[in-house]
Amino acid sequence: MTPVVTLIPGDGIGPEITEATLRVLDAAGVCIEWDRQLGGMAALEEAGDPLPDATLESVRKNRVVLKGPLTTPVGEGFRSVNVALRREFDLYANIRPARTIIPGGRYEDVDLVLIRENTEGLYIGYETFIAIEGDPRAVAQATAITTRKGCERIIRFALEYAVTNGRKLVTVAHKANILKAVSGLFLDVAREVSEGYRGKVEVNDVIIDACAMRLVLDPQQFDVIVTTNMFGDILSDEIAGLVGGLGLVPGANIGKNAALFEAMHGSAPDIAGKGVANPTAFLLGACMMLDYLGDEENASRIRAAIADTLIQDSVRTPDLHGDATTTKFTDAVIRRLA
Ligand code: NAI
Repeated sequence: MTPVVTLIPGDGIGPEITEATLRVLDAAGVCIEWDRQLGGMAALEEAGDPLPDATLESVRKNRVVLKGPLTTPVGEGFRSVNVALRREFDLYANIRPARTIIPGGRYEDVDLVLIRENTEGLYIGYETFIAIEGDPRAVAQATAITTRKGCERIIRFALEYAVTNGRKLVTVAHKANILKAVSGLFLDVAREVSEGYRGKVEVNDVIIDACAMRLVLDPQQFDVIVTTNMFGDILSDEIAGLVGGLGLVPGANIGKNAALFEAMHGSAPDIAGKGVANPTAFLLGACMMLDYLGDEENASRIRAAIADTLIQDSVRTPDLHGDATTTKFTDAVIRRLA
């Protein structure tokens, strides 16, 4: 049966990288029925709502989503639609694999996976200002929430991911020395749950700031890293930097009842409409989706075509110091699939 997938092209470079990705999937012979929906600024402009009911209904029905980047206004304006989707569908596990594709860069042989808790911590958005002496914004306050259940399921997810994917080491990154409650609970639960995985996978832990430094000094020492929401957000950009930038790293957001696949980067307003966006991260997100749907064969073929295009053909977009447009790069990947 042909799977039906909700497709949200998104904002900024979203429509450009979506078109490129659909062309590559078509050329590979992937069979998917796309249910196109609106989200983000595009949805606000067309439907008056950054997350319309029709989009939510489509995700509820199809349970698999390929989503372009969505713009979130800084400070004022609507809250993040990405966060809203994660919350609505309880997409608690964020998987971000970072692998060196192009040799000869700053770091060779990086192959690590960051697993980030996606629904708790400071990013729940319980924020307020406290007024003092006539200044309504004299103090800003935020509340972080960590639950035992939330910790248990993300730690278990990371350990199961490691076992299923032949990974040897899971590193728990935390700040339990300072944040003794919200980060201390995460570390305690990690130690408890990992007892059940003795002999199957090695587990160690590291304080988040040391983790950030060790990633820069020697990223090859890491295999799978599991961490809480905000630390994971920050580390994921760092690991993208290790392997050549945001244009190369995909992300998956997995819950019990839905899964959403995307690029790690945002809507890149500075290059939107210029035809130079690198579609690789979004393409690799689509490959993670194909794996999830059981079409590992096409996922591997597309990954190989991307690597050949970047390495053998040296066809690269400007973010990778090349001069190819999005279209030229996409044409080259399609030639490699033929
Ligand atoms: P960004 O990731 O959009 O851009 C950062 C820098 O990387 C820019 O210079 C951009 O041109 C470059 N870049 C990103 N993707 C690229 C690609 N595929 N090819 C070539 N260059 C690329 O981050 P920024 O500027 O902080 O955020 C822009 C908007 O995106 C914001 O509204 C933010 O909230 C949103 N955002 C959405 C995400 C999502 O939908 N998952 C994730 C991150 C940010």
